[in-house]
Amino acid sequence: MIKLDERLAAAASFVRTDRRICDVGTDHALLPCFLCEQGAMSVIASDVNANPLEAARANIEKYGFSDRITLLQSDGLRSVPPCDDIIIAGMGGELIAQIIGGCSFVSGDTRFILQPMTKAEILRRYLYANGYEILQEKGASVSGKAYTVMHVRYTGDKTGITDEFAYFGKCTDPRYIRKVNSQLKKLANSDPALLGLIRKETL
Ligand SMILES: C[S@@+](CC[C@H](N)C(=O)[O-])C[C@H]1O[C@@H](n2cnc3c(N)ncnc32)[C@H](O)[C@@H]1O
Repeated sequence: MIKLDERLAAAASFVRTDRRICDVGTDHALLPCFLCEQGAMSVIASDVNANPLEAARANIEKYGFSDRITLLQSDGLRSVPPCDDIIIAGMGGELIAQIIGGCSFVSGDTRFILQPMTKAEILRRYLYANGYEILQEKGASVSGKAYTVMHVRYTGDKTGITDEFAYFGKCTDPRYIRKVNSQLKKLANSDPALLGLIRKETL
């Protein structure tokens, strides 16, 4: 049984395993292998770089899922065929936004599962300005670092968001609140108004 860390486990929890799935920037392909263990029959494991794809191939063979996981070298979604659930995890928020911007097959049924390592506020602003909506966010912590995982769909309604929503989104995990508060305190050196966004901590 594959054991994912809390961050990838949170991402996996949003995936519909009976749909066409793509893990963009798969690296080790542990998430696609885990999804196959959960019953997924069709997963694309894509990465822009050749070395991660080799690591992915080794894991896919080790876990015996070569018949269900397709390896694909692709810059973002450029060479990815239409999929229903797209995971983009472990990258900066700006790169994730750029990759979503290159999606040519989005519909109301497409779901994105996004886990930014940095700049989540830029990703949230991008999503709402480009017709996407965050359905839910889940917090996760790995080695003492807090993250959020977003479950996102396309609505076509383009809208702005408040600074508060850009920084906290829909994540109510106390570990994530604490991380964003400390980020806001640092940023307040150049923009003191950000201090007004800081939330009460329960940890
Ligand atoms: C830090 S790893 C994250 C691996 C895994 N998704 C996770 O969250 O544990 C980032 C991966 O994204 C890949 N990557 C970076 N830019 C990419 C792009 N434009 N398109 C596809 N993959 C990309 C890198 O090669 C690397 O394997």
